[in-house]
Amino acid sequence: MSKSKDTSKLWGGRFNEATDSFVQRFTASVQFDARMADQDIQGSLAHADMLCAIGVLSSSELEEIQQGLTQVKREIDEGSFNWSIELEDVHMNIEARLTALIGSTGKKLHTGRSRNDQVATDIRLHLRSAIDSIARELTRLQEGTIALAAAHSTTIMPGFTHLQTAQPVSFGHHLLAWNEMLERDYGRLMDCRRRMNQSPLGAAALAGTTYPIDRYQTSAALGFDRPTENSLDSVSDRDFAVEFCSFAALLMTHLSRISEELILWTSAQFNFVELPDRFCTGSSIMPQKKNPDVPELVRGKVGRVNGHLVALLTLMKSQPLAYNKDNQEDKEPLFDTVDTVMDCLRAFADMIPAIKPRTNEMHEAARRGFSTATDLADYLVGRGLPFRDAHEVVGKAVAHGVATGLDLAEMELTTLQEFCPDIGKDVFDVLTLEGSIAARDHLGGTAPAQVAAAGSRAMERLQQRKASSEQPSGNNEPDKGQANRSDFRVD
Ligand code: ARG
Repeated sequence: MSKSKDTSKLWGGRFNEATDSFVQRFTASVQFDARMADQDIQGSLAHADMLCAIGVLSSSELEEIQQGLTQVKREIDEGSFNWSIELEDVHMNIEARLTALIGSTGKKLHTGRSRNDQVATDIRLHLRSAIDSIARELTRLQEGTIALAAAHSTTIMPGFTHLQTAQPVSFGHHLLAWNEMLERDYGRLMDCRRRMNQSPLGAAALAGTTYPIDRYQTSAALGFDRPTENSLDSVSDRDFAVEFCSFAALLMTHLSRISEELILWTSAQFNFVELPDRFCTGSSIMPQKKNPDVPELVRGKVGRVNGHLVALLTLMKSQPLAYNKDNQEDKEPLFDTVDTVMDCLRAFADMIPAIKPRTNEMHEAARRGFSTATDLADYLVGRGLPFRDAHEVVGKAVAHGVATGLDLAEMELTTLQEFCPDIGKDVFDVLTLEGSIAARDHLGGTAPAQVAAAGSRAMERLQQRKASSEQPSGNNEPDKGQANRSDFRVD
């Protein structure tokens, strides 16, 4: 352990020996929080503006700080910024560089604030920007899904329960079921955004500050809806990160379900769809293989996203108020969740519109497995049989079909009449796949007209969403920091 006094620390005043070099590395966060540099600078600019408005900074000092921070941002964007582990985190790296550039005015920037409210502000700004990018990608995925559905309201496939053939549905109907899951995910993402879009800036370390700060000014400048209510809560709350990760876990669960279906459907055994080559890879030993790697990887990535949710819940469990250093551990799970969700949505938004359904194979598969057995039972109910008796009759007809290798629609009328003399030749209308789907003609059913109307409503909702998200509340700048700092090095 080095014994020499280290005066380079921004908090070094009360210390008599330098930080242990391992502890320095262990406690630093700059390796991963440098990604919030843009937001840190935005927050500092808003804070400095406000300090000037209340007379803590003169206008010329404000101008110096603004120019200094602009220079810092330039250096970071160009990649020439010298990140230092000794300066612990993104906040102190930027502040120290500002002071090196403009001299002692730089030391006034931290008046009336703490890294505790600063980091809480930065994360919210960063996550808000990520949420907006994710919302756009999710919308793109939904758009592709709905468009494909619209083209397939009459394409017939088997619908499954227990992964056994159940009843025929249209491929469009199935795709719109995916869209419903994604629509709920979008709603949850917006809920999360609404609740998190409050400014913690001004809470300072935990109790507020003695300066006559204007929290409404900084909140508005940063595009927040309002300042947070309570200073203790402001610096300790990470609910928004937990909420975002729970949105992400459920979205990924949905993507994994879709993935699983695509993986099954592209197999030789199902052969329902084809994925373009550009979304697949081959095998180094088996020349015939075309593996659905993209959906498989998406399915696999649910594990890490679920893990991050549990990590954050566990991080927050039993933490006393207010800020604790534990909270520094919020960033890596949160950032990795953002990156994973963005990548998976991007892959899906590109891939789904490119799916090629094999309509003949799907139709053939729907013909196998007695998928119109329920239609026959419903037909018999129409002839006056109680449903349970009709069920019994059809069960016997199916058993005969299993024994003889015939579908219900392939049996002679006389054969069917052996099971129930009430059956007339109009039965064949309901035993066709087309008749079966057309008969489910109510809201939420698989009749082509219903599917087409549901697709139009879904597309309409999406267009309204797109029109209103052109002017969402809050700063909607794309998150330039995200994933672009992989070249980040600390000295
Ligand atoms: N790097 C810290 C974090 O991520 C910033 C806040 C540090 N505050 C403190 N009092 N040590 O939480």
